[in-house]
Amino acid sequence: MADLRNTAAVPPQISPWRVSVAPMMAWTDRHCRHFHRLITRRTRLYTEMVTTGALVHGDVAKHLRHNAGLEAPTALQIGGSEPDEMAHAARLAVQWGYDEINLNCGCPSERVQRGAFGACLMAEPALVADGVKAMLDAVGDAIPVTVKHRIGIDRVEHYEFVRDFVGEVARAGCQVFIVHARNAWLQGLSPKENREIPPLRYEFVHRLKREFPNLTVCINGGITDSEQVQMQLQQVDGVMVGRAAYHDPVVMADWDSRFWQDGDPIDTSDEWRLAVELAMVHYIEAEQQLHGTPWANAATHMLGLWNTRPGARAWRRVWSDHRLKGSPVQEVFKLAREARLAAVRSFAPDPTQAA
Ligand SMILES: Cc1cc2nc3c(=O)[nH]c(=O)nc-3n(C[C@H](O)[C@H](O)[C@H](O)COP(=O)(O)O)c2cc1C
Repeated sequence: MADLRNTAAVPPQISPWRVSVAPMMAWTDRHCRHFHRLITRRTRLYTEMVTTGALVHGDVAKHLRHNAGLEAPTALQIGGSEPDEMAHAARLAVQWGYDEINLNCGCPSERVQRGAFGACLMAEPALVADGVKAMLDAVGDAIPVTVKHRIGIDRVEHYEFVRDFVGEVARAGCQVFIVHARNAWLQGLSPKENREIPPLRYEFVHRLKREFPNLTVCINGGITDSEQVQMQLQQVDGVMVGRAAYHDPVVMADWDSRFWQDGDPIDTSDEWRLAVELAMVHYIEAEQQLHGTPWANAATHMLGLWNTRPGARAWRRVWSDHRLKGSPVQEVFKLAREARLAAVRSFAPDPTQAA
């Protein structure tokens, strides 16, 4: 398990964006980020997108509360299109202890389009540049202002579109670009389809890095394992992984040693998985006491922990059983463990029948 108290500095030659876990609505909440921190101490984590409107008019603590000390480095991702509101959000990001403010220019959902932000902002680079400038004026050097975007929108398929977008936003002072290497089709596709159907064009992102060598360029989209991360790092400064990290969190277990030069590779044994699970149980108990958080809100993010191990399905079934929602989390932990071990026993060869 990653040592949450480990505060040794990352070697200066390593970009802080070298590997990151993508912002994912309803997934990368603070509970999920706590869980990911138990697996990787160094990897940069992103919040779900929070709209600037929610930060101006809503319950700020509800959206921004997190354990900055244990969770860092974490970036707050915002969605918005009003420079003043973005500046306000950026100031809040500093106040609440985030390490970066990131503007979403890649989300294609209809709700986001109605708010005229997300991917449709790629058609308005001057507005994004104004927003970036407003945020930089608001936070100075306190935290970096970054942008996450696509390579194009709708059927605009030429490289020059994303090149010009990056060029204009960089002139406003943004130095870090995280590029989901496919277009967003703003009509006719759901957000899920928009993460699967428009083709991936990694070569556009590699070319951006070659043509803007002084910018930090990170690639995102369809990257599923450490080998692929390693290969991409030969062309770009950083790699952002989304769904694979969420569904199969153990993929992150070698990232600290492999990409951050921090410690030895984790032996992802059953003992290690159990220690991570138990640490989550303790976290959930503390959360329940402090904030009344139902255990399922946090446990849902760790359902991939035992993937590929015998008994994983039986274990998962217990942790996602809503009939247990009134039970103490220690009880659920015990039931899940028993279910997993019973499944393991039923698969194991019977020693009395050994040949
Ligand atoms: C459930 C879900 C929610 C997402 N929410 C956001 C979001 O809030 N902001 C954002 O920039 N991207 C969001 N994305 C897109 C991811 O950040 C990422 O760009 C995309 O999944 C492609 O990377 P991957 O192939 O590694 O998953 C979301 C993706 C998923 C699966």
